[in-house]
Amino acid sequence: MSYVSVSASKSYTVEIAPDLLKDIGSRAASIHPAVKAAVISDSNVWPLYGQTVVESMEKAGFEVIHFVFNAGEASKNSNTYLEILNFLASSGMTRSDILIALGGGVVGDMTGFVAATYLRGIAFIQVPTTLLAMVDSSVGGKTAIDLPTGKNLVGAFYQPDLVLCDINTLSTLPESIFCDGCAEVIKYGILYDEKLFSHLEAYGLLFDRLSVVTRCVEWKRDVVAEDEFDRGSRQKLNLGHTIGHGIETSSRFSISHGQAVSTGIAIIARAAQSMGICSSNTCQRITNLLTRFKLPITTDYTASQLFNCALSDKKRAGSTVNLIIPKEIGNCIISPTAINQLETIIEAGL
Ligand code: NAD
Ligand code: GLY
Repeated sequence: MSYVSVSASKSYTVEIAPDLLKDIGSRAASIHPAVKAAVISDSNVWPLYGQTVVESMEKAGFEVIHFVFNAGEASKNSNTYLEILNFLASSGMTRSDILIALGGGVVGDMTGFVAATYLRGIAFIQVPTTLLAMVDSSVGGKTAIDLPTGKNLVGAFYQPDLVLCDINTLSTLPESIFCDGCAEVIKYGILYDEKLFSHLEAYGLLFDRLSVVTRCVEWKRDVVAEDEFDRGSRQKLNLGHTIGHGIETSSRFSISHGQAVSTGIAIIARAAQSMGICSSNTCQRITNLLTRFKLPITTDYTASQLFNCALSDKKRAGSTVNLIIPKEIGNCIISPTAINQLETIIEAGL
């Protein structure tokens, strides 16, 4: 069992352990009086883990209701958001009650945004069940829904009251979704942690789940403590994301976020090598590791296509975009880049 304490506008603990779901009731009761709890989940996760959560919560004295929506990014929209709000209101949920997000990043982002806005803010617990959600989206308070014009365009910074990562839930993830999460794990290694990167090189998909998830959450804790509202150093977590966003958008989201980020990381690593910012050995280690995790490192889209789609990225600031560029494993720079240079940089990395 690992505990990571996050200090932000709200302080909370991330607990990481196998078989944690059956204790969710007592863990929830330790931070919040046993009142009414609404579990929000999706159509894949609820049949797998809903009953365990409900039984544990009820045993701890909570009255439990639940809302399940269709799995997938397509549900992270204003319709589902309003349906959940109406469900909570018609079920008489008050500000002293609590929400539980049981699922991956889609459920976590949606439930977090509901929690931030229902009755101007209600307590919530993140129970991430994908690797991506454990190491990234459940920690740090970014909540959002999508608009037809783009991903995550409406949201709020709103920290959870507790995060429970039951690493046994990773065992039911399809391999491709697990590997999507590995792209974010590899990202932490490139950004901050040569030792983590080497562990991944040594063990591949058999890496130690408990220690690696814990290490990534510790990095996220540090980033959030330093820059909760994403004005400076938190932007480093966007490594691979500007170009990745271009790939996701170009594919109309048929290419997953993890695959797009992986290709984005590979492109920026090759561009960094061609600009003399990182060595060929560093670039090779990055692309080799992504490949080892069955992640793509090339794309058929042209630099012009990716450039045009990357421009709609909300990370853009006026006529510049902050690119995150690897110098060596464990050390990346934030490089404010003129928009008119971006296409050339992408071209160099393709
Ligand atoms: P997801 O929530 O859609 O989960 C992927 C798939 O796995 C879904 O079909 C889901 O039903 C299924 N699933 C989840 N847990 C499972 C389990 N244990 N066993 C079997 N199936 C399971 O996607 P994701 O990759 O977890 O998250 C992506 C979302 O996270 C995107 O919307 C992205 O914008 C968001 N995100 C947010 C942040 C943040 O900081 N808030 C960071 C990164 C990504
Ligand atoms: N996932 C990016 C962030 O939390 O800032």
